[in-house]
Amino acid sequence: MNLDKKEIDNFDIYAHEWWNKRGPYKLIHNLTPLRVEYIQNSINVKGLNILDIGCGGGLLAEELTKKGAIVTGLDASKKTINIAKQHAKESNLNINYVCSTLESFIEEDKNKYDCIICFELIEHIPDQKKLVLDISKVSKKKSKLFMSTINRNIVSFAFAKVIAEYVLKIVPRGTHQYGKFIKPSELARLVELAEFKVEDISGVKLNPIDYTFSLSRMTKINYFMTSTKK
Ligand SMILES: C[S@@+](CC[C@H](N)C(=O)[O-])C[C@H]1O[C@@H](n2cnc3c(N)ncnc32)[C@H](O)[C@@H]1O
Repeated sequence: MNLDKKEIDNFDIYAHEWWNKRGPYKLIHNLTPLRVEYIQNSINVKGLNILDIGCGGGLLAEELTKKGAIVTGLDASKKTINIAKQHAKESNLNINYVCSTLESFIEEDKNKYDCIICFELIEHIPDQKKLVLDISKVSKKKSKLFMSTINRNIVSFAFAKVIAEYVLKIVPRGTHQYGKFIKPSELARLVELAEFKVEDISGVKLNPIDYTFSLSRMTKINYFMTSTKK
């Protein structure tokens, strides 16, 4: 199974915090507007069938649904999916949430999606190559794939692991494992192997004063990648 049980246990612990804007997922709340802008600069999501893999509490799924997308959100943490379902219900939004890994999901669901989102997930997955190959299976010609993750180098280790988890405590302790961080060139290779064409790699910069985000040419820590299925 392409899932790390320890990771899921960790996400279960903080599941109730997903919609707390000042809680452990504060940075993801602050990043969401930039993510929406990044996606919309590439496609109009209205009417598109979108698969959000590792959707967490549904922060992005809800924003995309409000913009007219038809979203399916997958997450392997049962507590997380329950929080996502409850919040969508309270917000009167129709989102298809499924508690599953992608690997298990594709055994049942034979749909192909117009757009696949895989944000801050690949660094939590044991077999990263398999994840990308499975993404290819739910894609059709010209499907868009948006990914985001953390680069692997001394700077990302210092900021994404040590400072974020232990010094500033703005990310739950134990969230990240350095060995699973992935360089843009490595991710691009995996994505190309899965028959996607990489179109953009953009860095994500954190303003340390107000913890807001903007795009940057510097990809040393967090970065987005857009690609299209050939
Ligand atoms: C860092 S969070 C990112 C959530 C969301 N994509 C976002 O960026 O707002 C990673 C999420 O992936 C889920 N996850 C971890 N391993 C998974 C797997 N193998 N399959 C599906 N979901 C997984 C976790 O439960 C967690 O909710």
